[in-house]
Amino acid sequence: MYKLGVCTSGDLDRTTTLLGKQRQVAFSLLRTSYPASAADIARFERVIRSTAISSGVSRTTYWSRFDDLDAITQRVLQRTFSADQCFDIHDIGASDGVLSMQWAERVFAAFPLARMTASDISLYFTEAVWVRSGETYILEPDGTPIQYAKAPFVVSLPRREHPAYLLNALVRGWASWRLRKLRLCNESVSWRGVPDSTVITSRGWRFRQIPLVHPAVLSFACNGRFRVVEANAFYPLPSQCHVIRAMNLYQTAIFTSAKILQGIRAALDSIVDGGIFIAGKTIEMEGARNDVSIFQKSQGRVRVVEKLGKGFELERHVLDMSL
Ligand SMILES: C[S@@+](CC[C@H](N)C(=O)[O-])C[C@H]1O[C@@H](n2cnc3c(N)ncnc32)[C@H](O)[C@@H]1O
Repeated sequence: MYKLGVCTSGDLDRTTTLLGKQRQVAFSLLRTSYPASAADIARFERVIRSTAISSGVSRTTYWSRFDDLDAITQRVLQRTFSADQCFDIHDIGASDGVLSMQWAERVFAAFPLARMTASDISLYFTEAVWVRSGETYILEPDGTPIQYAKAPFVVSLPRREHPAYLLNALVRGWASWRLRKLRLCNESVSWRGVPDSTVITSRGWRFRQIPLVHPAVLSFACNGRFRVVEANAFYPLPSQCHVIRAMNLYQTAIFTSAKILQGIRAALDSIVDGGIFIAGKTIEMEGARNDVSIFQKSQGRVRVVEKLGKGFELERHVLDMSL
């Protein structure tokens, strides 16, 4: 048995096989022009929903996912900060940043001096094409290869295919062997920022950047009070801020509990006394319900000040944490 990949925008209408199994979507489809056209944006938004990084964490996000959360958070912020206060908000694990931007628009309307940073472990992929054959590898910023595409196949490199898809498993094996033979990992490519539309050619390879930040967010980030940066959310931020939001980041199916607790501690350590920590998960299978707890850190303790849905599944761990 085999599964064909989703290699072109035309294929995006058929992302499942006849048996209902997901087909791999080529991450090259995330690339947009500058400025991005409406069709580019629509394609980006479809592809980002099925994009995942090598750790297995998906980039899934979409507009208005947190409308209810943003409304509750706004009430908490209005109780906590005065309208003329200058304070810093950080949305960690923000994926393409659309939800951070939507949140920022609401916050900035009520707090003209507030600032917001959206961050994620990676803000771009690098597309490496072996020019002679058109074989395409997608790499994470540190060079980790995560996908191979050669129409009509697209295969994940970090994750094995189900053994029933024998041909896909063979393509994956071939891709890994070619990767070593073509010495892709010896190439060093660096970008000036995100986006960077430079095309780099080197020893038979052509490299282009694929931003993972939504084009609308890249434009919004030019306003001076909102920025998008790369940051590992499992380590403390370079400086403390007043509010941190971590939504759909602490995934118990992927990270060990020790790692998640490390991430929560890092977030709490990155918040000033009196600051706010928002954490939770969207339960897609149950009507996209947001289960969230909003905590306040005060005098070495953490308490819950608001809850949405069933609250953050790890709420007890946050409350038990000694600061
Ligand atoms: C499911 S998305 C959540 C996006 C958005 N917060 C939402 O809830 O819609 C999880 C995000 O966490 C990011 N991520 C995974 N590990 C991370 C890490 N160590 N540091 C920062 N971000 C990370 C992923 O790249 C991905 O964009």
